[in-house]
Amino acid sequence: MTIAEPEGRVPPPDPESFGRIADLVYRQVGIRLGPGKGYFVEGRLGRLYRELRCRDWADLCRQLEATEPGTCRDAFIDAVVTGETQFFRDELPFRALAEKILPEALEGADQPLRLRVWSAGCSTGQEPFSIAMALWDYVERGAVELDIWATDVSAASLRRVQDGVYDELELARGLSAERRRRFFEELPGRGARVQGPLRRAVRFQRLNLATDPVCGPGFHAVFCRNVAIYFDTEGKRRLHQTLESAVAPGGYLILGAAETQLLGRSSFRVEHFHRCLLFRKTGGARS
Ligand SMILES: C[S@@+](CC[C@H](N)C(=O)[O-])C[C@H]1O[C@@H](n2cnc3c(N)ncnc32)[C@H](O)[C@@H]1O
Repeated sequence: MTIAEPEGRVPPPDPESFGRIADLVYRQVGIRLGPGKGYFVEGRLGRLYRELRCRDWADLCRQLEATEPGTCRDAFIDAVVTGETQFFRDELPFRALAEKILPEALEGADQPLRLRVWSAGCSTGQEPFSIAMALWDYVERGAVELDIWATDVSAASLRRVQDGVYDELELARGLSAERRRRFFEELPGRGARVQGPLRRAVRFQRLNLATDPVCGPGFHAVFCRNVAIYFDTEGKRRLHQTLESAVAPGGYLILGAAETQLLGRSSFRVEHFHRCLLFRKTGGARS
Protein backbone atom coordinates (compact mmCIF):
# COMPACT_ATOMS: atom_id res chain seq x y z
CA MET A 1 0.00 0.00 0.00
CA THR A 2 1.34 3.45 -0.90
CA ILE A 3 1.53 5.94 1.96
CA ALA A 4 1.46 9.58 0.86
CA GLU A 5 3.02 12.22 3.08
CA PRO A 6 1.04 15.50 3.23
CA GLU A 7 3.41 17.05 0.67
CA GLY A 8 4.52 13.76 -0.90
CA ARG A 9 3.94 12.68 -4.46
CA VAL A 10 0.50 11.23 -5.04
CA PRO A 11 0.46 7.88 -6.88
CA PRO A 12 -1.65 7.43 -10.02
CA PRO A 13 -5.16 6.10 -9.26
CA ASP A 14 -5.64 2.36 -9.55
CA PRO A 15 -8.28 1.29 -12.12
CA GLU A 16 -10.98 0.40 -9.57
CA SER A 17 -10.65 3.71 -7.70
CA PHE A 18 -10.58 5.60 -10.98
CA GLY A 19 -13.92 4.00 -11.88
CA ARG A 20 -15.42 4.95 -8.50
CA ILE A 21 -14.19 8.53 -8.78
CA ALA A 22 -15.40 8.86 -12.38
CA ASP A 23 -18.80 7.61 -11.22
CA LEU A 24 -18.87 10.13 -8.37
CA VAL A 25 -17.89 12.99 -10.69
CA TYR A 26 -20.68 11.99 -13.07
CA ARG A 27 -23.30 11.75 -10.33
CA GLN A 28 -22.19 14.97 -8.63
CA VAL A 29 -21.75 17.33 -11.57
CA GLY A 30 -22.63 15.48 -14.79
CA ILE A 31 -19.09 15.49 -16.15
CA ARG A 32 -18.10 12.21 -17.83
CA LEU A 33 -14.47 11.16 -17.34
CA GLY A 34 -13.58 8.64 -20.03
CA PRO A 35 -10.89 5.99 -19.72
CA GLY A 36 -7.42 7.46 -19.95
CA LYS A 37 -8.30 10.37 -17.67
CA GLY A 38 -6.24 9.00 -14.77
CA TYR A 39 -3.87 11.96 -15.16
CA PHE A 40 -6.87 14.31 -14.68
CA VAL A 41 -7.88 12.60 -11.43
CA GLU A 42 -4.31 12.64 -10.18
CA GLY A 43 -3.76 16.29 -11.15
CA ARG A 44 -7.08 17.67 -9.91
CA LEU A 45 -7.57 15.56 -6.78
CA GLY A 46 -3.95 15.17 -5.66
CA ARG A 47 -4.24 18.11 -3.29
CA LEU A 48 -7.42 16.82 -1.67
CA TYR A 49 -5.81 13.37 -1.40
CA ARG A 50 -2.95 14.93 0.57
CA GLU A 51 -5.16 17.19 2.68
CA LEU A 52 -7.32 14.25 3.73
CA ARG A 53 -4.14 12.25 4.40
CA CYS A 54 -5.39 9.36 2.31
CA ARG A 55 -3.61 6.03 2.49
CA ASP A 56 -4.49 5.28 -1.12
CA TRP A 57 -7.10 6.16 -3.73
CA ALA A 58 -9.56 3.64 -2.32
CA ASP A 59 -9.33 5.57 0.97
CA LEU A 60 -10.19 8.82 -0.84
CA CYS A 61 -13.15 7.07 -2.51
CA ARG A 62 -14.41 5.84 0.87
CA GLN A 63 -14.13 9.32 2.39
CA LEU A 64 -15.90 10.98 -0.54
CA GLU A 65 -18.64 8.38 -0.73
CA ALA A 66 -19.23 8.59 3.02
CA THR A 67 -19.34 12.38 3.15
CA GLU A 68 -22.57 14.25 3.47
CA PRO A 69 -22.71 17.29 1.21
CA GLY A 70 -20.38 19.78 2.88
CA THR A 71 -16.81 20.92 2.91
CA CYS A 72 -15.13 17.75 1.65
CA ARG A 73 -17.74 17.21 -1.07
CA ASP A 74 -17.50 20.89 -2.03
CA ALA A 75 -13.72 20.66 -2.27
CA PHE A 76 -14.15 17.61 -4.51
CA ILE A 77 -16.53 19.50 -6.82
CA ASP A 78 -14.31 22.59 -6.87
CA ALA A 79 -11.37 20.41 -7.88
CA VAL A 80 -13.04 18.66 -10.80
CA VAL A 81 -14.79 21.60 -12.51
CA THR A 82 -13.00 23.93 -14.90
CA GLY A 83 -13.70 27.61 -14.24
CA GLU A 84 -11.88 29.13 -17.23
CA THR A 85 -13.59 32.40 -18.14
CA GLN A 86 -12.95 36.04 -18.98
CA PHE A 87 -14.80 39.31 -19.44
CA PHE A 88 -16.72 39.60 -22.73
CA ARG A 89 -15.63 36.12 -23.79
CA ASP A 90 -16.25 35.77 -27.55
CA GLU A 91 -17.77 39.29 -27.53
CA LEU A 92 -20.64 38.61 -30.01
CA PRO A 93 -23.14 37.14 -27.49
CA PHE A 94 -22.97 40.38 -25.49
CA ARG A 95 -23.46 42.50 -28.60
CA ALA A 96 -26.37 40.23 -29.60
CA LEU A 97 -27.97 40.92 -26.26
CA ALA A 98 -27.56 44.70 -26.52
CA GLU A 99 -28.20 45.11 -30.25
CA LYS A 100 -30.84 42.47 -30.99
CA ILE A 101 -32.37 40.69 -28.03
CA LEU A 102 -33.06 43.70 -25.82
CA PRO A 103 -34.27 46.03 -28.61
CA GLU A 104 -36.69 43.27 -29.70
CA ALA A 105 -37.92 42.77 -26.15
CA LEU A 106 -38.47 46.52 -25.78
CA GLU A 107 -40.71 46.76 -28.83
CA GLY A 108 -44.21 47.32 -27.57
CA ALA A 109 -43.25 46.53 -23.99
CA ASP A 110 -44.00 48.64 -20.95
CA GLN A 111 -41.03 50.72 -19.92
CA PRO A 112 -39.02 50.24 -17.89
CA LEU A 113 -38.82 46.60 -18.91
CA ARG A 114 -37.63 44.15 -16.28
CA LEU A 115 -35.14 42.14 -18.32
CA ARG A 116 -34.45 38.69 -16.93
CA VAL A 117 -31.17 37.04 -17.88
CA TRP A 118 -29.62 33.86 -16.44
CA SER A 119 -25.91 33.13 -16.62
CA ALA A 120 -25.86 29.38 -15.94
CA GLY A 121 -22.35 28.17 -15.07
CA CYS A 122 -21.08 31.70 -14.35
CA SER A 123 -17.74 30.68 -12.81
CA THR A 124 -16.18 33.71 -11.07
CA GLY A 125 -18.71 36.21 -12.43
CA GLN A 126 -17.05 37.72 -15.48
CA GLU A 127 -19.94 36.57 -17.72
CA PRO A 128 -22.85 38.05 -15.72
CA PHE A 129 -20.97 41.30 -15.10
CA SER A 130 -20.22 41.52 -18.84
CA ILE A 131 -23.95 41.07 -19.48
CA ALA A 132 -24.72 43.94 -17.10
CA MET A 133 -22.04 46.19 -18.62
CA ALA A 134 -23.27 45.47 -22.15
CA LEU A 135 -26.78 46.61 -21.19
CA TRP A 136 -25.92 49.47 -18.84
CA ASP A 137 -26.67 52.29 -21.35
CA TYR A 138 -30.30 51.11 -21.34
CA VAL A 139 -30.36 51.07 -17.54
CA GLU A 140 -29.05 54.63 -17.38
CA ARG A 141 -31.68 55.74 -19.89
CA GLY A 142 -34.36 54.25 -17.63
CA ALA A 143 -35.53 51.84 -20.33
CA VAL A 144 -34.58 48.67 -18.46
CA GLU A 145 -34.29 47.18 -14.99
CA LEU A 146 -31.85 44.32 -14.95
CA ASP A 147 -32.59 41.08 -13.14
CA ILE A 148 -29.54 38.90 -13.76
CA TRP A 149 -29.22 35.50 -12.10
CA ALA A 150 -25.76 33.99 -12.00
CA THR A 151 -25.35 30.41 -10.84
CA ASP A 152 -22.58 27.86 -10.54
CA VAL A 153 -21.99 24.55 -8.81
CA SER A 154 -18.60 25.64 -7.48
CA ALA A 155 -18.72 27.09 -3.97
CA ALA A 156 -15.14 28.35 -4.35
CA SER A 157 -15.98 30.32 -7.50
CA LEU A 158 -19.00 31.91 -5.83
CA ARG A 159 -16.97 32.78 -2.72
CA ARG A 160 -14.43 34.53 -4.92
CA VAL A 161 -17.09 36.67 -6.55
CA GLN A 162 -18.73 37.83 -3.31
CA ASP A 163 -16.79 41.09 -2.96
CA GLY A 164 -16.66 41.77 -6.74
CA VAL A 165 -12.87 42.18 -6.69
CA TYR A 166 -10.74 41.07 -9.64
CA ASP A 167 -6.95 41.01 -9.84
CA GLU A 168 -4.86 42.58 -12.60
CA LEU A 169 -4.59 39.35 -14.57
CA GLU A 170 -8.36 38.89 -14.64
CA LEU A 171 -8.95 42.56 -15.47
CA ALA A 172 -6.50 42.35 -18.38
CA ARG A 173 -8.58 39.62 -20.00
CA GLY A 174 -11.37 41.12 -22.10
CA LEU A 175 -12.06 44.34 -20.21
CA SER A 176 -11.37 47.60 -22.07
CA ALA A 177 -9.73 50.55 -20.29
CA GLU A 178 -12.91 52.55 -20.89
CA ARG A 179 -15.12 49.95 -19.22
CA ARG A 180 -12.67 49.59 -16.34
CA ARG A 181 -12.90 53.35 -15.71
CA ARG A 182 -16.67 53.37 -16.03
CA PHE A 183 -17.67 50.29 -14.03
CA PHE A 184 -14.85 49.58 -11.54
CA GLU A 185 -13.30 51.28 -8.55
CA GLU A 186 -9.55 50.93 -8.28
CA LEU A 187 -7.98 49.12 -5.33
CA PRO A 188 -4.30 50.01 -5.59
CA GLY A 189 -2.15 46.89 -5.39
CA ARG A 190 -5.18 44.56 -5.41
CA GLY A 191 -6.86 45.18 -8.75
CA ALA A 192 -10.33 46.71 -8.93
CA ARG A 193 -13.85 46.15 -7.64
CA VAL A 194 -17.09 46.15 -9.62
CA GLN A 195 -19.03 49.27 -8.65
CA GLY A 196 -22.07 48.89 -6.40
CA PRO A 197 -24.91 49.49 -8.89
CA LEU A 198 -23.51 46.88 -11.29
CA ARG A 199 -22.88 44.44 -8.43
CA ARG A 200 -26.46 44.84 -7.25
CA ALA A 201 -27.80 44.02 -10.73
CA VAL A 202 -26.48 40.45 -10.42
CA ARG A 203 -27.74 37.82 -7.98
CA PHE A 204 -25.36 34.93 -7.41
CA GLN A 205 -26.61 31.57 -6.26
CA ARG A 206 -25.26 28.06 -6.02
CA LEU A 207 -27.02 25.71 -8.40
CA ASN A 208 -26.09 22.34 -9.84
CA LEU A 209 -27.31 22.07 -13.42
CA ALA A 210 -27.03 18.29 -13.32
CA THR A 211 -29.26 17.75 -10.30
CA ASP A 212 -31.10 20.89 -9.13
CA PRO A 213 -34.43 22.20 -10.37
CA VAL A 214 -34.31 24.95 -12.93
CA CYS A 215 -33.81 28.61 -12.05
CA GLY A 216 -36.81 29.94 -13.91
CA PRO A 217 -39.03 30.02 -15.94
CA GLY A 218 -39.48 33.23 -17.94
CA PHE A 219 -35.97 34.40 -18.83
CA HIS A 220 -35.58 36.69 -21.84
CA ALA A 221 -32.14 35.16 -22.34
CA VAL A 222 -30.22 32.24 -20.86
CA PHE A 223 -26.46 32.05 -21.28
CA CYS A 224 -25.03 28.57 -20.71
CA ARG A 225 -21.67 28.74 -22.36
CA ASN A 226 -18.80 26.29 -22.14
CA VAL A 227 -20.50 24.22 -19.43
CA ALA A 228 -21.99 21.30 -21.35
CA ILE A 229 -18.76 20.70 -23.28
CA TYR A 230 -17.75 18.48 -20.37
CA PHE A 231 -21.05 16.52 -20.32
CA ASP A 232 -21.83 13.34 -22.25
CA THR A 233 -24.65 13.15 -24.79
CA GLU A 234 -27.28 12.14 -22.24
CA GLY A 235 -26.14 14.87 -19.85
CA LYS A 236 -26.30 17.47 -22.62
CA ARG A 237 -29.79 16.31 -23.57
CA ARG A 238 -31.00 16.66 -19.97
CA LEU A 239 -29.31 20.04 -19.57
CA HIS A 240 -30.80 21.40 -22.79
CA GLN A 241 -34.22 20.27 -21.59
CA THR A 242 -33.67 22.08 -18.27
CA LEU A 243 -32.58 25.23 -20.07
CA GLU A 244 -35.52 25.07 -22.44
CA SER A 245 -37.95 25.27 -19.56
CA ALA A 246 -36.18 28.38 -18.25
CA VAL A 247 -36.43 30.40 -21.48
CA ALA A 248 -39.61 32.43 -22.03
CA PRO A 249 -41.48 31.95 -25.31
CA GLY A 250 -39.70 34.21 -27.83
CA GLY A 251 -36.61 34.29 -25.58
CA TYR A 252 -33.11 33.13 -26.44
CA LEU A 253 -30.68 30.44 -25.37
CA ILE A 254 -27.02 31.20 -26.00
CA LEU A 255 -24.42 28.43 -25.87
CA GLY A 256 -20.63 28.57 -26.20
CA ALA A 257 -18.96 29.38 -29.52
CA ALA A 258 -18.04 25.71 -30.07
CA GLU A 259 -21.49 24.40 -29.06
CA THR A 260 -23.57 24.41 -32.22
CA GLN A 261 -26.12 21.68 -31.52
CA LEU A 262 -29.12 21.46 -29.26
CA LEU A 263 -29.98 17.87 -28.45
CA GLY A 264 -33.54 16.68 -28.81
CA ARG A 265 -35.06 20.17 -28.78
CA SER A 266 -37.83 21.09 -31.15
CA SER A 267 -39.11 24.30 -29.62
CA PHE A 268 -36.04 26.33 -30.62
CA ARG A 269 -35.10 27.64 -34.01
CA VAL A 270 -31.68 28.94 -34.98
CA GLU A 271 -31.10 32.63 -35.62
CA HIS A 272 -27.81 34.40 -36.26
CA PHE A 273 -26.21 37.54 -34.99
CA HIS A 274 -23.18 37.83 -37.28
CA ARG A 275 -21.28 34.56 -36.62
CA CYS A 276 -23.04 33.96 -33.29
CA LEU A 277 -25.73 31.26 -33.11
CA LEU A 278 -28.81 32.11 -31.09
CA PHE A 279 -31.45 29.52 -30.21
CA ARG A 280 -34.81 31.21 -30.12
CA LYS A 281 -37.75 29.59 -28.39
CA THR A 282 -40.90 29.62 -30.45
CA GLY A 283 -44.23 30.79 -29.12
CA GLY A 284 -43.52 34.45 -28.33
CA ALA A 285 -45.50 37.35 -29.76
CA ARG A 286 -42.85 38.00 -32.41
CA SER A 287 -41.60 34.50 -33.16
C1 LIG B 1 -15.50 26.82 -18.43
S1 LIG B 1 -16.48 27.62 -17.21
C2 LIG B 1 -17.46 28.69 -18.22
C3 LIG B 1 -17.78 30.00 -17.54
C4 LIG B 1 -18.57 30.98 -18.40
N1 LIG B 1 -19.89 30.45 -18.70
C5 LIG B 1 -17.83 31.30 -19.67
O1 LIG B 1 -18.18 30.79 -20.74
O2 LIG B 1 -16.84 32.06 -19.61
C6 LIG B 1 -17.62 26.29 -16.81
C7 LIG B 1 -18.35 26.55 -15.51
O3 LIG B 1 -19.42 25.60 -15.42
C8 LIG B 1 -19.54 25.20 -14.08
N2 LIG B 1 -20.20 23.88 -14.01
C9 LIG B 1 -19.72 22.67 -14.39
N3 LIG B 1 -20.63 21.71 -14.11
C10 LIG B 1 -21.69 22.33 -13.56
C11 LIG B 1 -22.95 21.88 -13.04
N4 LIG B 1 -23.27 20.58 -13.03
N5 LIG B 1 -23.80 22.79 -12.54
C12 LIG B 1 -23.48 24.12 -12.53
N6 LIG B 1 -22.31 24.60 -12.98
C13 LIG B 1 -21.43 23.72 -13.49
C14 LIG B 1 -18.11 25.16 -13.57
O4 LIG B 1 -18.03 25.25 -12.15
C15 LIG B 1 -17.49 26.38 -14.29
O5 LIG B 1 -17.55 27.52 -13.48
